Amino acid sequence: METTESQIIPMPRIGDKAPEFKAVTTQGPINFPADFSGSWVILFSHPADFTPVCTSEFMTFASQEEKFAKANCKLVGLSVDGLYSHIAWLRTIREKIEYKGMKDVEVKFPLIEDITMEVAKKYGMIQPGESNTKAVRAVFFIDPKGIIRAIIYYPLSLGRNFDELYRALVAMQTADAFSVATPADWQPGDDVIVPTAGSCGVAKERMENKTDMKCYDWFFCTRPISKEKVFDAVLKK
Ligand code: BEZ
Repeated sequence: METTESQIIPMPRIGDKAPEFKAVTTQGPINFPADFSGSWVILFSHPADFTPVCTSEFMTFASQEEKFAKANCKLVGLSVDGLYSHIAWLRTIREKIEYKGMKDVEVKFPLIEDITMEVAKKYGMIQPGESNTKAVRAVFFIDPKGIIRAIIYYPLSLGRNFDELYRALVAMQTADAFSVATPADWQPGDDVIVPTAGSCGVAKERMENKTDMKCYDWFFCTRPISKEKVFDAVLKK
């Protein structure tokens, strides 16, 4: 059947409210994003259960779940496989797979079954140029108010870097907490970027070194924020 204009679901964008759905998961039913209100959520898709790249990703993400939880972030996975396939795969991971020093890994976060592809289509996870039948590796960062704050897509062959996902999460929380931006390759403890001077007077002051900022030019100034301050703001007590 040909796809008509009315069947095309627009892909969610940064700044949009996370599309709502109810789903069955390996941890019981969920009502998304309402059930996660007050927390950051990373909603991510993988192409298929019982595949090697996905297995390496699930073992890595599950091993880091506590680190994300401490930064007030819950994880929710999705593929277009059914619930029993999910359960069997997660049991296999726990019972049989030893990989890069990880073993006995229990995936405690919910994994959505999406046989109808309803959720995957709502979130633009089915990208026909890559696959009509599998979700790409999508990552949606959703903030405690249910707003999409960042989206990353990877092709089927490319396993994600979970240190980068954590860095992005902490950077966005830092930007929110301190009203700053974060430069290329920023890591907690590195200088952050302050909002650009909004008047000639402020620009002049900054260029005359009358503030504690370091200015590379009038529009590009940074200030230090210690790692401790970042983690004080970001990590749950
Ligand atoms: C994998 O996870 O290994 C995989 C899944 C789908 C296509 C290619 C690789």
